[in-house]
Amino acid sequence: MKIVVIGGSGLIGSKLVTKLREQGHEAIAASPNSGVNTITGEGLAGVLKGAAVAVDVSNSPSWEDAAVLKFFETSTRNLLTYEAAAGVKHHVALSVVGTDQLSESGYFRGKIAQELLIKESSIPHSIVHATQFFEFLKGLADISVEGDKVHLPPVLFQPMAAEDVASGVARVAVGPPVNGIVEIAGPEQFRVDELVRRRLASLKDPREVIADPHARYDGAEVGERTLLPGKDARLGETRFADWLRSPASQIPRAKPQSAAAATATKRA
Ligand SMILES: NC(=O)c1ccc[n+]([C@@H]2O[C@H](COP(=O)([O-])OP(=O)(O)OC[C@H]3O[C@@H](n4cnc5c(N)ncnc54)[C@H](OP(=O)(O)O)[C@@H]3O)[C@@H](O)[C@H]2O)c1
Repeated sequence: MKIVVIGGSGLIGSKLVTKLREQGHEAIAASPNSGVNTITGEGLAGVLKGAAVAVDVSNSPSWEDAAVLKFFETSTRNLLTYEAAAGVKHHVALSVVGTDQLSESGYFRGKIAQELLIKESSIPHSIVHATQFFEFLKGLADISVEGDKVHLPPVLFQPMAAEDVASGVARVAVGPPVNGIVEIAGPEQFRVDELVRRRLASLKDPREVIADPHARYDGAEVGERTLLPGKDARLGETRFADWLRSPASQIPRAKPQSAAAATATKRA
């Protein structure tokens, strides 16, 4: 099956392309680096020709509120238009567990807009909601800095390894469209402040992490269980302590992407 992976050069996209190829599929990594741009439309018609499935694991290069919204709206609209013209039978997109409850966050307003466009489109779809990636924990610290300390709400979450995210998305991509949401998550629950503290310690990052019940998660107020998946979530296998000992944890993922993100690094 020809499967086009939009954002195929990214953290999840590159792992996804490898997994799909290992399963014998013709997986194409598409992104601006390979001449495919969902904002301008460049390369979309060509790459989608003959594709059965398109998987969108792209992310906005800027995290500034208006820019994120514009990215996900423009990109998704273009992608769905070109997919319809090419006769693509299944649109798969990666989003985040709890997205619909996080509209106070500019980033999540972008994801909500993306999901709405997908639901309104005529193309059969599956939206994969993943929990936070282990690889994102340092980025989460970076976007949660107040003064010289990291302020995070001590709420529950169930993060997962990027490798398991890619496996979960691959499984959905080769299956029939669910025309709804599939949740995927890690095998263990933690408190957000606790795990970010452990991650920073592993990176020898000296910043202090404060458990602050009034702190926001990426600009949104969250409750004890807002970030948790439902009971039907498919769980990845990788435990945090094992991931921390693996080569995957050696990359802190620092990549400032815009003026607005100058104080942050990699985000969701
Ligand atoms: N981080 C988390 O904890 C988390 C949790 C759940 C879900 N998610 C979701 O996971 C998705 C993927 O995240 P990630 O960390 O794997 O992303 P990433 O590593 O930042 O990769 C982003 C990808 O998007 C591509 N891209 C950027 N602009 C594009 C454009 N105009 N046209 C086509 N492709 C474009 C990039 O291509 P180039 O390399 O060519 O620039 C790159 O391949 C995101 O949608 C995010 O919302 C994240």
